[in-house]
Amino acid sequence: MSGDETALDETARKLFAGPVLFLKSAPELRFLPDPDAPEIAFAGRSNVGKSSLLNRLTNRSSLARTSNTPGRTQELNIFEVGDPVRLRLVDMPGYGFAKAPKDMARKWRFLVNDYLRGRQVLKRTLLLIDARHGIKEIDRELMKMLDDAAVSYRLVLTKADKIKASDLAEVEQATAEEARLHPAAHPEIIATSSEKGLGMDRLRTAVLEASLA
Ligand code: GTP
Ligand code: MG
Repeated sequence: MSGDETALDETARKLFAGPVLFLKSAPELRFLPDPDAPEIAFAGRSNVGKSSLLNRLTNRSSLARTSNTPGRTQELNIFEVGDPVRLRLVDMPGYGFAKAPKDMARKWRFLVNDYLRGRQVLKRTLLLIDARHGIKEIDRELMKMLDDAAVSYRLVLTKADKIKASDLAEVEQATAEEARLHPAAHPEIIATSSEKGLGMDRLRTAVLEASLA
């Protein structure tokens, strides 16, 4: 524990060190749990590292299934944090997976869009961006959809271990600058590495904070 840990940081750390359970996979919205706890969703391009980040965040190595093959996650996977449950994490299918069969891609897009636009207990979406590539056109489409629907989101850079510190600083700045132009985006971004654990304390606090919003 560092000297400048706030009360919220401490609560977040303890919360994520406690019980985290896989609740269910929802292939359609009607399979979602009753909307009785705040939800935080992990969205982003296929292979960006959503499932890996969820695992690292909860200190579980294989809670959410990860893979080298894009398109691993195909349903909304719901995880419960805390006992009694304080919040739910939602691992979403990725978008922009070129090799996905067309009808499958369409199915995912509807599932993801309907969830993001219509879920009342969704408090914030973490929109993951690969630090090596920065914001892509397909990310901008999702950002616009979230802006239009007034769904609060925060950009999170992933795989920070894969680039030099100087390049990371550059992409962090460029990403934050772009985020500030989007009405529903949190102005600060968080750089993470699920491989090295970078940014996890900040992200845990950000998730808890969002759940209280
Ligand atoms: P879909 O479910 O297909 O949308 O993918 P996803 O976004 O859930 O990605 P996933 O977590 O499955 O990770 C994809 C690949 O990236 C895996 O091979 C991970 O090991 C790798 N990966 C994820 N995060 C990191 C990271 O922080 N650093 C490094 N070096 N590799 C990572
Ligand atoms: Mg996944």
